[in-house]
Amino acid sequence: MPAKIRRIGILTGGGDCPGLNAVIRAVTKKAILVHGWEVIGFLDGFHGLVNNRRRRLHYDDVSGILTEGGTVLGTSKTVNPYHYAIKRGNRLAFRDLSRRAVANVRRLKLDGLIVVGGDGTLGIAHRLNEDGVPVVGIPKTIDNDLKGTEVTVGFHSAVRIATDAIDNLHSTAEALHRVMILEVMGHRTGWIALFAGVAGGGDVVLIPEIPFDIRSVAQVLLRRNRFGKRFSIVVAAEGAHPRGGGEVVREMVKESLDPVRLGGIGFALAEDIKKLTALDTRVVVLGHLQRGGTPIAYDRLLATRFGTEAIDLVARGRFGRMAVATGSRVTHAPLSAAAGGFRPIPRGFPLIASARSVGTSFGD
Ligand code: F6P
Repeated sequence: MPAKIRRIGILTGGGDCPGLNAVIRAVTKKAILVHGWEVIGFLDGFHGLVNNRRRRLHYDDVSGILTEGGTVLGTSKTVNPYHYAIKRGNRLAFRDLSRRAVANVRRLKLDGLIVVGGDGTLGIAHRLNEDGVPVVGIPKTIDNDLKGTEVTVGFHSAVRIATDAIDNLHSTAEALHRVMILEVMGHRTGWIALFAGVAGGGDVVLIPEIPFDIRSVAQVLLRRNRFGKRFSIVVAAEGAHPRGGGEVVREMVKESLDPVRLGGIGFALAEDIKKLTALDTRVVVLGHLQRGGTPIAYDRLLATRFGTEAIDLVARGRFGRMAVATGSRVTHAPLSAAAGGFRPIPRGFPLIASARSVGTSFGD
């Protein structure tokens, strides 16, 4: 029989995304309504766990947040208890403060800790679980690149935002006979670019999983022009790169869980396209708008299903696991599945073939 649960903690780590509040709401409401547990929310991700910054979450605290973007608990992309960055002036030092985090869990008498995050955050959650903290994970990231689950909270809301952007670019591209390049997020994967690119009818979709040849891209654009389509939409994932070439790195954030920040491929493409085609070309970088705003219905449902599944896992003492989605089912998998690495679009992913068959180019 699992030990009696009285009090649990929850934190949101890594980048924010639409649907985090829906997760916090589902976890807290079910913990209170079904089990009568007390819920403690740690502030700003692992920062709150290490420094014991927290607040009690009552039913009323999570009532009315289902539709709100962001996270009422705050989050952080730079706090790793095992490699905790301490800034002294311009100098950066790192210390292992994981024992402090574990001690806080014990001092607060938490019978379970729910960690909501992407690969970096859930990788840390996995280590904490190995170090004796009873952890259950919930996958979220707009990038949809987490191993172990087919979909993450936030992804479809980001796709919706990127698709709306493509829809809006169509009219101005057509009116001025331009090539419009939309650069979208996704880090090292092309999930957002592929889904939004196909949903928005992009003419060329460039993703890291299919390195492009700029001459092929140019040919597609010129061919469209020859056949009377005097505008084109190019959707580029920030991690897209030419065959044999590397990603465009915008900056390195040393204290971050993953220091590489990508960005700039849109402008690099525009330069090359102008040279090779002489077509009037503009660039839009969608950026952090993709992480903002209210979650779409799909993400609210996924967040509710993941949140309530996580509470079941805690109740059954199934620690070291995370809620995952496979097909239309929500089930669970070991946290270790999410740790280390990311999930690219698999070779032979059916949507790629469907897109090709309706004339979408991947620039290869
Ligand atoms: O992981 C989410 C994400 O939005 C990526 O798509 C993007 O590469 C990165 O975070 C941007 O990071 P930051 O918020 O630190 O600029």
